[in-house]
Amino acid sequence: MERWQDPEWVKTMNIRLDYSRMTADFIGLEHGITNDEIDSLVPRATQVAGDINKRRKSGEYGFYQLPYDLVTAGNVVETAKALRKNCDNLVLIGIGGSALGAAALFRSLCHPLHNLLTKKERVGIPRFFVIDNVDPATCRAVFNQIDPVNTIFNIVTKAGTTTETVSQFLIARQLISGTLGKKAVKDHIVVTTDNRPNPLRKIAEAAGYTILDIPENVGGRFSVFSPVGIFPAAVLGIDIEELLAGAWLADKRCRTAELRRNPAYMAGALHYLADTRKGLHITAMMPYSDALYQIAFWFRQLWAESLGKSLDRDGNFVHSGQTPVAALGATDQHSQLQLYMEGPFNKMITFLIVENHNTELKIPAVVEDDFSYLKKRELGDLLNIEAQSTQMGLARAGRSYLRLILPEVNPFTIGQLLFMLEVQTVFTGGLYNINPLDQPGVVASKEYIYGLLGHENYRGKAEEIRAQQKQNGLYVI
Ligand code: PA5
Repeated sequence: MERWQDPEWVKTMNIRLDYSRMTADFIGLEHGITNDEIDSLVPRATQVAGDINKRRKSGEYGFYQLPYDLVTAGNVVETAKALRKNCDNLVLIGIGGSALGAAALFRSLCHPLHNLLTKKERVGIPRFFVIDNVDPATCRAVFNQIDPVNTIFNIVTKAGTTTETVSQFLIARQLISGTLGKKAVKDHIVVTTDNRPNPLRKIAEAAGYTILDIPENVGGRFSVFSPVGIFPAAVLGIDIEELLAGAWLADKRCRTAELRRNPAYMAGALHYLADTRKGLHITAMMPYSDALYQIAFWFRQLWAESLGKSLDRDGNFVHSGQTPVAALGATDQHSQLQLYMEGPFNKMITFLIVENHNTELKIPAVVEDDFSYLKKRELGDLLNIEAQSTQMGLARAGRSYLRLILPEVNPFTIGQLLFMLEVQTVFTGGLYNINPLDQPGVVASKEYIYGLLGHENYRGKAEEIRAQQKQNGLYVI
């Protein structure tokens, strides 16, 4: 029996949401949310929950289905295992939702210095590189680090046209054929893309690359439990069954329409009320764990791209969305905290707290007198003490924060956390009455890129840009 099949173990691994310090009971009426405010949102929340159920059933919210698609997951794991045999480097080329999920899984569930370990220490697990930006210095540096002969390039793009990803794919393909010959290319490229036809898919099919499908109804930032996230995770030896079991549990807990019993809905409702009633237009995610830091960046994209919308579903201008920020405890106590504690009352924080860090590192028993308060202290405890002291200071200053408490970091708790945050996001989108799945602003910028690059289908965009550019430079010093 796997541990996630043991109800006793599962009980000890539930993530908990503590929202006391968002409420007026604890931080006062000016910035805190009252029970009446929560109660008055209940009818709307029930309506949104019903709408989510409808969209889930119709297949529009495809991400809900991913934890249950064990056939695809099993196939992906088999493919990953087979490819891993001759692979010492996995290079993921993708951007936005096509990169951030895999990066978050890697950072939270692999060794903190994985790429610096020897091959023996990595027990055959390849090193992992994510190339998301088109910065030539980073791309060249990664390509210089790897030998194509034992490298798999995972090209991840739902659209199959994203300029950043496609240009890096072309460079990678040339690198492989230049060093190993044209015939070898197909053994070194895995394309993860939409299951519908697109330009990259066409190339991949013609060339015989391994192709992993992204379901049509799953968008980039909601794709971490699809092959986008689970293929690299499986190559990296992460337990996919346990990860999906965590997501499955989160789905079970976050399905009830009863607001106060649903952690994802409750967190969403509090964010919404904080933004629309209390002027808290910024939300910082602050893990007290290096392993969870990358999740704060994954969430930053999820929250920003899903909720930042100019129009609501009825076509009214709303310009919705909080600005998400990523911070790290204890590091940012020495960078951001002063602002969070004493600056404008325009932000809330979500702390990610890990109860058991599972790595013991004790401060020595014998230390100089001035440091005697530290002797025999364990660093994991110190980190959690720092979190408590930060929370104490914020509480005294009447600041708003949530705490998401993870018993420990493992695939099961990470699966829960990521899934809960996805549900929180679509629910909050429902409260704003916006479509959390589209990204018209990003599409607009993609089209201007094509225009600037001289793509023949985007000549109009190029002209628009030229007209705009004539106005640039009027006020330059
Ligand atoms: O979340 C999203 O939808 C976006 O961030 C996309 O993932 C990003 O724009 C990359 O798109 P694609 O996967 O089509 O290359």
